[in-house]
Amino acid sequence: MRQATVYIDREALQYNLNRVKQLAPTAQIVSMVKANAYGHGVKDCLTALSGTDAFGVACLEEALEIRELGYQQPITLIEGIFSEDEMQVVVENNIECVVHHQQQLDWLRTYKNAYIGKNLKVWVKLNSGMNRLGFKVPEIIAVINSLKAEGFTCVLAMHFANADAENHPLNEQQKNQFLQVKQACAPVMASCCNSAAIYKWPELNFDFVRPGIMLYGASPFADKSVHDLDLKPVMTFTAEIIALNHIQAGESVGYGSTFSAEKEMDLAIVSIGYGDGYPRAFPKQNYVAINGQQTRVIGRVAMDMIAIDVTGLDAKIGTEVELWGKNRLVDDVAEANGTIGYELLCRLSARPRRK
Ligand SMILES: Cc1ncc(COP(=O)(O)O)c(C=O)c1O
Repeated sequence: MRQATVYIDREALQYNLNRVKQLAPTAQIVSMVKANAYGHGVKDCLTALSGTDAFGVACLEEALEIRELGYQQPITLIEGIFSEDEMQVVVENNIECVVHHQQQLDWLRTYKNAYIGKNLKVWVKLNSGMNRLGFKVPEIIAVINSLKAEGFTCVLAMHFANADAENHPLNEQQKNQFLQVKQACAPVMASCCNSAAIYKWPELNFDFVRPGIMLYGASPFADKSVHDLDLKPVMTFTAEIIALNHIQAGESVGYGSTFSAEKEMDLAIVSIGYGDGYPRAFPKQNYVAINGQQTRVIGRVAMDMIAIDVTGLDAKIGTEVELWGKNRLVDDVAEANGTIGYELLCRLSARPRRK
């Protein structure tokens, strides 16, 4: 049987959740489990996230999956509902909505009594310069104040466009607008911190923090590793060696013959490829780990196979190769691929088995 495997370390997930608690001790934690828990498998992850206060997802289908698995914590739809008919399902299943445009406000008001009766919070989204979702200042102040007057419990919500960047001018603008609205609508609950912001601005943790990537043990920052952040990688992605070759200087490997051996070498073929979600294009040299030791990937990644340099290594048919995990960080694979860890984690295919 093909041995491509995604291992999920639930203890690491719990460890990372505790890191959020240390960094934001007074805030409630909305664990972001959208996109199938960033590709980790929502079912497996929820069992380790019992210490969270709430969950954040991107659509009703993801919220209902959590309810079907039997979890009763609050759930926030971070983009709100997409059509009026979703409102009834939201109320029936105790799901909380972000509202970011007028139609969503109208839909919410149609179900006002049921929504308020179930103590569901309305997350009112501020557009402070990211220009994806939300009401701008001063409109949002009127929106929140009228929702409050109607009896709704509101959370002022915002998302930073550059929380991972040092000294980006938009950060100050976003912070200032958020604080301005918070003051103008006081008292109102507030939430603006994703993983990067949790680390950088403890003073902005307020009532709810919304960690995503840090829970899964990948870094939100290009210049800080998970070790620097004291996080543990949750996912280990492995495959096995299925063939060994010895080649001479000048011989090539794989599609396009893009790699030519500089000298005599041993190579191993590993049963993993872009059909599993392993990226194909590597503008920079990529590596895998064998027995904790990194070695280079050579030639092109194919749909089902890659070649790696095993010269001088203890490599046999069946030896396990770590594509990413604790010895080869997903963020480093992403960097070689010209992307971010988030994308690699989310875009794994259904083919690797899960453990
Ligand atoms: C509204 C919102 N909050 C929080 C997060 C979590 O961000 P991160 O994974 O960077 O912690 C996201 C992720 O995209 C988001 O869209």
